[in-house]
Amino acid sequence: MAFERRLGAGAVRARKGPPPFPVITAYDAPFARCAEEAGIDVLLVGDTLGHVALGFSSTVPVDLEDMCRHAAAVVRSTRKAHVIVDLPFGSYEAADEDAVRSAVLLVKAGASSVKLEGGVRVASRIAAIAAAGIPVVGHIGVLPQTAALDQGFKRKRDRELLLADARAVEAGGAFAVVLEGIDAAIGAEITQMLSIPTIGIGSGPNCDAQVLVLYDALGLYPDPPPFVKRYAELGAIATDALRTYASEVREGTFPPHKSG
Ligand code: KIV
Repeated sequence: MAFERRLGAGAVRARKGPPPFPVITAYDAPFARCAEEAGIDVLLVGDTLGHVALGFSSTVPVDLEDMCRHAAAVVRSTRKAHVIVDLPFGSYEAADEDAVRSAVLLVKAGASSVKLEGGVRVASRIAAIAAAGIPVVGHIGVLPQTAALDQGFKRKRDRELLLADARAVEAGGAFAVVLEGIDAAIGAEITQMLSIPTIGIGSGPNCDAQVLVLYDALGLYPDPPPFVKRYAELGAIATDALRTYASEVREGTFPPHKSG
């Protein structure tokens, strides 16, 4: 069987600079397939899985088993996309060795690369994972895994801290970095400063890439953040379709009675 290579981390890194490229989260086979058919070749199996698809109120309860299962579904249903998979909360906090072990499990599940939250604080984790040969994406600004414990989800405007985090992520060996909820001018400055692509979410238009949570963008999650553009209202379409199905069953028009 011919081995078809996925888009590698080096090719994603080489997209630094205009034009910006799209990234979208994916958690399951049908939507991963839609995204790839739409020409989006960088997918993120984010731990937003926890609230948009598993019904938790945050990303905190998501574990490695969840991430491996959903990563494998996304990988099975796509052919060429680069699939970034989040290291969930609890899988890398204790030590660099834990980070490497957890990253290895995600790669065994099919991940093309892994992502973890934090800047200066996790630079040694990034370096350890990269040294194990696993491509890593950083994530700075709003850090949903720990936001509820400390700084919350407010937009990040502390320029010095953000620049230091961005530098630490690049120096650690990440090949890209997510900027979440960062003041747009600082997002632009970080994008100028780094030689790796920045992937913005709620961080203004001047990043090298943009990412959205798929269920937010498609209208499947009731309460998206204000910066999200809803490209479809699939939740409303699904509810209408199910209402029609339910009434046809109640009325006896589905399944149809054969004539004669
Ligand atoms: O988990 C996720 O979906 C993310 C995005 C918000 C960037 O990290």
